[in-house]
Amino acid sequence: MDQSAAVDGLREILRGLPVLKGTAPAFDPSDAPEDPVALFAEWFRLAVDTGVREPHAMTLSTVAPTGQPSARVLILKDVDCDGWHFAINAASRKGRELSECPVAALTFYWPELVRQVRVCGSVVADAPEVAAADFLARPDGSRRMALTRRQSQVLADSGDLDAALEQAGRELELTPDLVPAEWTSYAVRPLEIEFWQGDSQRRHQRLRYTASGGEWSRAVLWP
Ligand SMILES: Cc1cc2nc3c(=O)[nH]c(=O)nc-3n(C[C@H](O)[C@H](O)[C@H](O)COP(=O)(O)O)c2cc1C
Repeated sequence: MDQSAAVDGLREILRGLPVLKGTAPAFDPSDAPEDPVALFAEWFRLAVDTGVREPHAMTLSTVAPTGQPSARVLILKDVDCDGWHFAINAASRKGRELSECPVAALTFYWPELVRQVRVCGSVVADAPEVAAADFLARPDGSRRMALTRRQSQVLADSGDLDAALEQAGRELELTPDLVPAEWTSYAVRPLEIEFWQGDSQRRHQRLRYTASGGEWSRAVLWP
């Protein structure tokens, strides 16, 4: 099929799709806490209680030294005064980009609540024990896959993956508490956090927190 036939009609489908149809909770930026971590915790708990699917899935955007951005979905592991934590293979594309350009943006979207949260800042590796605890708590399949140590490389033959998984399974049987050296937990230390409460009439509420001199300043943004 040629490309124009493949995309034929997509424009009409796209234009017909609903958006911002969730149930927006009340949000008054003037009542928001001084600490954005507290507001994130409040919004996140509501997302969980409301039954938002996979509310801990977030888009991690990184940038290569060339300036080329790339983004992918990851799972949030923790939020505390050190930042927003995730654990990955440092040898993957995102890990390599983070070692060369230690900055990132995180984006959460909770459609049921018409809410988006954006976090950006510098990225710092957590202590190795944090990464080890994360790795050892992972399901068996996830640990085996990580032990193939090849994420983001070109897979020329799916048999290579089968063989690497078998090898990883043998490694885990011999050493159940094995943690690959590449497994790294990172924290995004936020410089800017924006809470976005969508509105079907597009009168969205936007509250941005900006770090300045150890304090947070707040600003309401035009929709
Ligand atoms: C819901 C969801 C959760 C994911 N969780 C992870 C994760 O925790 N760790 C991970 O390395 N990749 C995860 N992925 C896969 C990543 O999006 C990505 O494909 C992979 O990390 C390779 O990215 P890279 O080549 O840019 O390094 C997840 C994908 C989705 C859709």
